[in-house]
Amino acid sequence: MNEKEIIESENRLMANVFAKKPVVITRGKGALVWDINGKEYVDCTSSYGVALLGHSHPKIVKAICEQAERLISCHAGFYNDKRTEFLQKLTAITPKGLDKAFLSNSGAESVECALKLARKFSGKPEIIAVMGSFHGKTMGALSATWDKKYREPFQPLVPEIKHIPPDNLEKAREAVTDKTAAFLVEPIRGEGGIRVPPDDYLKGLRELCDEKNVLLMFDEVQTGFGRTGKLFACEHWGIVPDVMCLAKPLAGGLPLGVTVAKEHVMSSFKVGDHSTTYSGNPLVCAAGCAAIDVLLEEKLAERAAELGRYFKTRLGELQGKHKAVKEVRGLGLMLGVEIKFDALNIILSAMKRGVLVLDAGRNVVRFLPPLVIEKEHIDKVINVLDTVFEEEENARSSGTPAN
Ligand SMILES: Cc1ncc(COP(=O)(O)O)c(C=O)c1O
Repeated sequence: MNEKEIIESENRLMANVFAKKPVVITRGKGALVWDINGKEYVDCTSSYGVALLGHSHPKIVKAICEQAERLISCHAGFYNDKRTEFLQKLTAITPKGLDKAFLSNSGAESVECALKLARKFSGKPEIIAVMGSFHGKTMGALSATWDKKYREPFQPLVPEIKHIPPDNLEKAREAVTDKTAAFLVEPIRGEGGIRVPPDDYLKGLRELCDEKNVLLMFDEVQTGFGRTGKLFACEHWGIVPDVMCLAKPLAGGLPLGVTVAKEHVMSSFKVGDHSTTYSGNPLVCAAGCAAIDVLLEEKLAERAAELGRYFKTRLGELQGKHKAVKEVRGLGLMLGVEIKFDALNIILSAMKRGVLVLDAGRNVVRFLPPLVIEKEHIDKVINVLDTVFEEEENARSSGTPAN
């Protein structure tokens, strides 16, 4: 099939819920991907944070191939060697005390599990989330997600999930009632515009939760696994939540969600309380084991910290040069540039020049590159953005936006 046939066919046969870009990606290696015509792109999307180790990392490919030859599926009603190995490797790197996990298939599922766990553990119904948050789009996760464009068509949502202004400890304190089971927050809000909280916020939330006997649940689906320059973003503030949701890059690109909690919290789940047929699938767990090995062996969290500083400095140079750039934000290789107009034109123009970037809300250009990205790729991204910003500014001042 050629490019046109693939685009037409996918549009016809697949639910029309994704804002698709008109490009057919067929191959990837490290921080680069190629389209069906052989055009090369620097990938600053990592498939929305999934390809954190780089596309088709040889150790992930090897682990998948070897495990596929041995055993692909094994329900969690039986024991499995790869599942156990993955659980051991994972709980060896999660923050101290977070050592009992439920395995699922996606970020939203990891949040679903956390919501149910909070209610089961506490016997209370209320969950407090923050405005601007994103936790996924299944009914429970959607109820904790903030943006009304996602929520409104699907009312009524799960009751007793309420939103408070972010980064505000007073509002958090006022919100706690005797029905509150848990706070659910992203340590750094991703989809909400790459928002890093003030330094005292998460620590204050931890103290509040301890005082009020409320669970603190972190959604690290986007921030986890080295993305922000630490293995988990909560480490930036030296705190440990009671429950942590993980997904995206955990299995080197295969679907895996993990809800990891303190032992006494997860132990409130009894047989039958929660499950999914694929929980702890051996193929996915083999990839997960390899992913943890690669993350540690290649010191990718440290690399994210170092290259993130370089990338952010270079984005700062663009801010100095272009009036369109309002602010540069983020930690490690989770970065955002807030601009004064809609980000879509910038994203499409950058794509034409061989750079893939994401949005985060209407006017933030988001960068979630594989952590194996090289400085030269970052330089290319900066050069392309420099041109694209200039073109867009010129077009806007002459009244004809570039796209
Ligand atoms: C912080 C956060 N939580 C949850 C999700 C949902 O993950 P998934 O799309 O795998 O369901 C996402 C996805 O972008 C996310 O960024």
